[in-house]
Amino acid sequence: MNYFLVELTIFCTVSLAASLEVVVDPAINATINEDVLLGCLFTHTVQLDLRYIVIEWNHRVGDDEKAVCLFDFGDYESCRSGSSLSINEISKANASLLLKNVTIHDIGSYSCTVTILSDKATGRVTLAVTGE
Ligand SMILES: *[C@@H]1O[C@H](CO)[C@@H](O)[C@H](O)[C@H]1NC(C)=O
Ligand SMILES: *[C@@H]1O[C@H](CO)[C@@H](O)[C@H](O)[C@H]1NC(C)=O
Ligand SMILES: *[C@@H]1O[C@H](CO)[C@@H](O)[C@H](O)[C@H]1NC(C)=O
Repeated sequence: MNYFLVELTIFCTVSLAASLEVVVDPAINATINEDVLLGCLFTHTVQLDLRYIVIEWNHRVGDDEKAVCLFDFGDYESCRSGSSLSINEISKANASLLLKNVTIHDIGSYSCTVTILSDKATGRVTLAVTGE
């Protein structure tokens, strides 16, 4: 029995160390001109070091996919106008995207991809924007 428990503990530790998970709100409804936060939290089992993290947010409408934000190894950050990430929050495993003053052009499917060293995970969020 004891032997079994020890083995189980080792197994769990190993599988956790290799896993990165992204947690999103899959569907968000917003009103036009509102500021909207697309939540994207990731789990981490090692000490977070911004130098090893890449965050990519893309926006897809139909077959067309465009980059919204890219945060690259702590030394490069670029977001299209009206969108932002918080570097302070990324260091707390929160890669949420803030969209200011949304319009119908912001409707569509968003992906939040987090890469930490060789681990990679993606979450998808669908944003609907309706008039007042
Ligand atoms: C968003 O709106 C749709 C259609 O109006 C509704 O079915 C859905 O429950 C809403 N989702 C949320 C998260 O409010
Ligand atoms: C994540 O970061 C955003 C700012 O980018 C903040 O508004 C939100 O409260 C944070 N979420 C959590 C769970 O800390
Ligand atoms: C939001 O965008 C609309 C045009 O789409 C503009 O008229 C309005 O001033 C903007 N509001 C803010 C707070 O930037």
